[in-house]
Amino acid sequence: MHLCELTTPALILDRGQLQRNLARMHRHIDALNTPIRPHLKTAKCIDVAELALAGRDRQITVSTVREAEYFFEGGIDDIFYAVGMVPAKVDRLARLQQRGARIRLTVDNVAMARAVSERAEALETCFDVLIEIDCDGHRAGMVPDDPALTTLGQALQDGGGTRLVGVMTHGGESYHCGTTGEIEAMAERERRAVLEAAGSLREAGLPCEVVSVGSTPTARYGQSLEGVTEIRPGVYMFYDLVMAGLGVCAVADIALSVLATVISHRRDKQWIITDAGWTALSRDRGTASQAVDQGYGLVTDLQGRPLDDLIVVSANQEHGIIADRRGGPVDFDRLPVGSCLRILPNHACATASAHTAYRVVDGGEQVLATWQRCAGW
Ligand SMILES: Cc1ncc(COP(=O)(O)O)c(C=O)c1O
Repeated sequence: MHLCELTTPALILDRGQLQRNLARMHRHIDALNTPIRPHLKTAKCIDVAELALAGRDRQITVSTVREAEYFFEGGIDDIFYAVGMVPAKVDRLARLQQRGARIRLTVDNVAMARAVSERAEALETCFDVLIEIDCDGHRAGMVPDDPALTTLGQALQDGGGTRLVGVMTHGGESYHCGTTGEIEAMAERERRAVLEAAGSLREAGLPCEVVSVGSTPTARYGQSLEGVTEIRPGVYMFYDLVMAGLGVCAVADIALSVLATVISHRRDKQWIITDAGWTALSRDRGTASQAVDQGYGLVTDLQGRPLDDLIVVSANQEHGIIADRRGGPVDFDRLPVGSCLRILPNHACATASAHTAYRVVDGGEQVLATWQRCAGW
């Protein structure tokens, strides 16, 4: 099937580019001798997971219970659910464990550690737990020198439904770095934070065999993973305009796009209107704070070659408005009414989350496969 035969908007994944992105990250991480536990919150797709795990340990990170269930059904049983745990989610994860999965959890406070442990114990299961460490003030987690760290570690050890196995952190502030040198420094900060926390736990006689870090920028530019036992990048599989703006990839490396049809020309306003609004692109404006603001996405031709002057300047629910990024005249003949184009996303996770499937291409305009995504929580 040709791309133009699809109902638009549609999510397009370039398999060849995906494989090049995987290979590049693997080259970098393999040189640092650390196993990868890819985060599948971006892909949410077993076909992508199989490519990402080919020839590697079948261990993954997820961000929803639904993803854990979906990937377990797909044959992956070593799963780290990397969002702070709450008791109401324990039952579904306990069921997975009883069916043979090895589910790892994270918490950052004693109250939740106790509540989760009690629920797990009542269900006659026990979870491996990592303490979440805040390495950069980004969001949740205990700071590495918090004296309460060992109290939390002990609570996990004492709980009948939890077992302390280590520490984890996510260097999310790396998304706001100005240079690759700053990302390198962030990666080192991420590593040192978990090593400090791991050291305190071990000194207190507590176990800490797992030391887990990861974001795509820090994974890409980190120079040392000494002391780290696994790394969890996720968006590196697809990349996006935010990653390109950060210098983590080139625009040409972005494997994900949204196919749209031109539904109208507004020559009076120098606008091209498409059927890809914010439901298809997301409302993410992650590049607004970067040197190059890409609006709601950068327009490419059907082959995925950027038409650098054109961005989606405005998005309604089901309408996208494309214009010259500097407000200049638009070449309407290049994109006639009824023609199709592709739009590169600001944030791959946000854009993909609105779609139920990927239409897979490989550098060209032919649809080679349809890969389903899992949805919901
Ligand atoms: C806990 C955790 N680990 C790893 C990642 C992967 O980071 P990235 O999306 O930069 O690849 C995320 C992303 O949000 C995360 O929340």
